[in-house]
Amino acid sequence: MSSAFADRHAAIQPYYFQRKLQEVRQLEAAGHRVIHLGIGSPDLPPAPEVVEALCAAAQQPDVHGYQSYSGLPALRAAMAHYYGEQYGVQLDPEREILPLMGSKEGIMHLSMAFLNPGDAVMVPDPGYPSYAAAARMLGAAVIPYTLSEAEGWEPTVEALEAAWTAQVKILYTNFPHMPTGAVGSAATRQMLVDFARQKNIVLVHDNPYSQVLVERPASFLSLPGATSCVLELNSLSKSANLAGWRIGMLCGRADWIAAVLRMKSNMDSGMFYGLQQGAIAALQQPRSWYESLNTLYAERREALWAFCTQMGWRFERNRAGMFVWAGLPEGQEGSEVVDRLLQEKHIFLTPGEVFGPSGKTYVRLSLCAPLEAILEALHRIGPNSMK
Ligand SMILES: Cc1ncc(COP(=O)(O)O)c(C=O)c1O
Repeated sequence: MSSAFADRHAAIQPYYFQRKLQEVRQLEAAGHRVIHLGIGSPDLPPAPEVVEALCAAAQQPDVHGYQSYSGLPALRAAMAHYYGEQYGVQLDPEREILPLMGSKEGIMHLSMAFLNPGDAVMVPDPGYPSYAAAARMLGAAVIPYTLSEAEGWEPTVEALEAAWTAQVKILYTNFPHMPTGAVGSAATRQMLVDFARQKNIVLVHDNPYSQVLVERPASFLSLPGATSCVLELNSLSKSANLAGWRIGMLCGRADWIAAVLRMKSNMDSGMFYGLQQGAIAALQQPRSWYESLNTLYAERREALWAFCTQMGWRFERNRAGMFVWAGLPEGQEGSEVVDRLLQEKHIFLTPGEVFGPSGKTYVRLSLCAPLEAILEALHRIGPNSMK
């Protein structure tokens, strides 16, 4: 038997942070205090009731076995209630919701449910890298559609038409958009739904930032025509500060949810009961929970804007989500700037090209660091130090 690895190794790279964090750890091992503004992993704790629900559940003797592949009925009911309360979308908790261990795994499961080798997916450039990686692992082609600063990082129907081929099965979209923070106007959102219906493709909307610095949380499933063509990924990672718990959900058409569950049920054996109880408590948080988080994030964002200004970078204020997306001055590239800041100032940011070629001259700064750390970063760069 050959010892060679599967061909799909050639199709993908190790995840950027898996590689880069090794470099960061080396600096830390050498005694440097690195300021982490790279990853969007919330530093703040979940609501106390969430942790209490997990702990109380974990004390029970009879809850440590395998769990249902489609989650506890009470968890699906809490997810349906959340969709009703937050987005005004009514979902059938039995058939239109599938709890996930994080939305990242959901991308793989839904890709397995829909894609054959030779099919194609359309992904935003810049955009979340896992959409393309999952497709490539399955032998599907990846067709980027370009977003640009000039268009406010929102797709145009012309760009979609230019990218589309008859092989396309899935079109990915994501608002608030990561990494740029574009909110996605009502017209853009409807255009995407209409495009997917017209081309008879699956529109996957990835919605993990729906609560972060938005005016009003929104779901694509509320749009006219969406119920026939949209699958929506959602997540408690950012909205409930539960990134490490791995809790997400997939919502939409019952027959599509069933197809994804068919894949998923062959790959895991349910989510720990205690995590599900904690998730239920998280989904029941009042609006004030999101408002208090957003007050903190807004303060941090102000400080990151000051950092960008000091660096001579450009940014937009009318953005949402967990990051500041900054454009570099003419002639600079994100990867060089990020390496220089890491080595010289021990400040860790993400270069925009991680999210696609259109991000090459941008950097992404995360709001997941205490205000004091951001102010320390500002202090480290000093006036005009790295322009
Ligand atoms: C756009 C986007 N989608 C999905 C995810 C994955 O979230 P989860 O923690 O639910 O897997 C992230 C995480 O950073 C993200 O930025």
